[in-house]
Amino acid sequence: MTAEAEPKFRRIRRSASQANLESRHQGREGRMLENSLRTPPQGREGYSLTHGLHPYPARFHPNLPRTILKWLAQEHRDRPPRLCDPFMGGGTLLVESLCRGWEVTGNDINPIAALVARERCRGRLPKHAVMVWNALEFLQNEVERRRRDKIRVEHPHLSMLKTHYQPHIFAEMLQWSDCLEQLYPGPDRDTLRFVFSSLVGKFSRRIEEGNDGEKKEKGNFPRGAFSLWMQRKTREVLERQQDLSRRLPDPKMRPQIWQQDARELSLPQGCDPFDCLITSPPYPGTYDYLDHHRLRLRWLHFSIQELALKEIGTRRQHSAAQWKEVFRTCMLKMRQVTVSGGHCFLVLGDWVDQGHKTDALEYVEKYADSVGWAVEGAASVRRPVYEEQLKEDFGESGRWEHLIWLRNQVQARPSSPIPTEEEEE
Ligand SMILES: C[S@@+](CC[C@H](N)C(=O)[O-])C[C@H]1O[C@@H](n2cnc3c(N)ncnc32)[C@H](O)[C@@H]1O
Repeated sequence: MTAEAEPKFRRIRRSASQANLESRHQGREGRMLENSLRTPPQGREGYSLTHGLHPYPARFHPNLPRTILKWLAQEHRDRPPRLCDPFMGGGTLLVESLCRGWEVTGNDINPIAALVARERCRGRLPKHAVMVWNALEFLQNEVERRRRDKIRVEHPHLSMLKTHYQPHIFAEMLQWSDCLEQLYPGPDRDTLRFVFSSLVGKFSRRIEEGNDGEKKEKGNFPRGAFSLWMQRKTREVLERQQDLSRRLPDPKMRPQIWQQDARELSLPQGCDPFDCLITSPPYPGTYDYLDHHRLRLRWLHFSIQELALKEIGTRRQHSAAQWKEVFRTCMLKMRQVTVSGGHCFLVLGDWVDQGHKTDALEYVEKYADSVGWAVEGAASVRRPVYEEQLKEDFGESGRWEHLIWLRNQVQARPSSPIPTEEEEE
């Protein structure tokens, strides 16, 4: 691998304005990679555009794709690169690519990811924003009328959902969710479902620790609060989507959104391979996206069966041996949808498995080559660890997050199966 011939890590300590994060880089374009990975000093400013409209765990800071795309623009002067994020989550890459007027595809097994990414990428004209607002007002009246008339509503997951909310808030949400389902399917309904989904967590009861270390129950809201927030949030979403449409070189441009299992990733007929992937796959024991979005999935009537089987990196179905196969299969499929010489920028953090720490960069350097990727360069940032047990597991050297630049080193794209361990040797 080319990275081996490159100079060793250089350690650089930054000023307090960059929160004293320790960072290092190696190989080609190390400085660019490091700048991409480090949150810029302005911090939350990066969550402008439509990025902050809906919670999504473990998302990119927009600075990461933004910096890489700027670099790619220099590399691809003749024509814009074709981009894809095979684990798109809330679609941070998608928004940034559209802002450059570049075609982009996002894929994710979780239907909440598709809902969120689609809305974050939607540039809206004022006349269309008015139509959504009218639909919201219609629903608001309908919810109010149903409340007065004491209309009963059924929901397949009613008994599970009701345990998570105050009774009056639950009754209100139930009416909203039912009325939303009655709307004609299309972009206006999708936007209002997105707004509903963004509020599902905010209104749920949960125990949170305050700054003083004291645990308090959160989620006490007065009657009518949910409707008020539906209005507030819809207004914000429509404003941001209109801002986005002014920012986009082509406001009608939309991303391609797929819902494939990344272990079976393939190009639909007529779709050319990608020039560049920018992505952050899950890694062992970090997030369980099914659990994280369970309330949203249930409220919005999405099936969870496929997710339960196919989501990768979860605690519920993990062993180190399985993970190696999962990782290599994903990397192989990702290479097979990429042009020869094409790029992959991969974000991965170190993990611990039964007390054993794995350095994610070393892991990629060990296995990427066997599925046709060459490591060109990498940058790493030390991330804080708060939990006592994890502090012990990660030890003195700590937990690092890496941005790894790989290139497809296979000339043609044989659809060969993944090599076995013996074949590798
Ligand atoms: C770290 S998040 C990606 C966040 C994204 N970069 C962003 O900025 O929002 C990883 C994503 O991988 C998805 N995922 C998990 N298993 C998958 C699979 N088998 N196929 C496709 N996507 C999967 C999860 O649903 C999750 O959205």
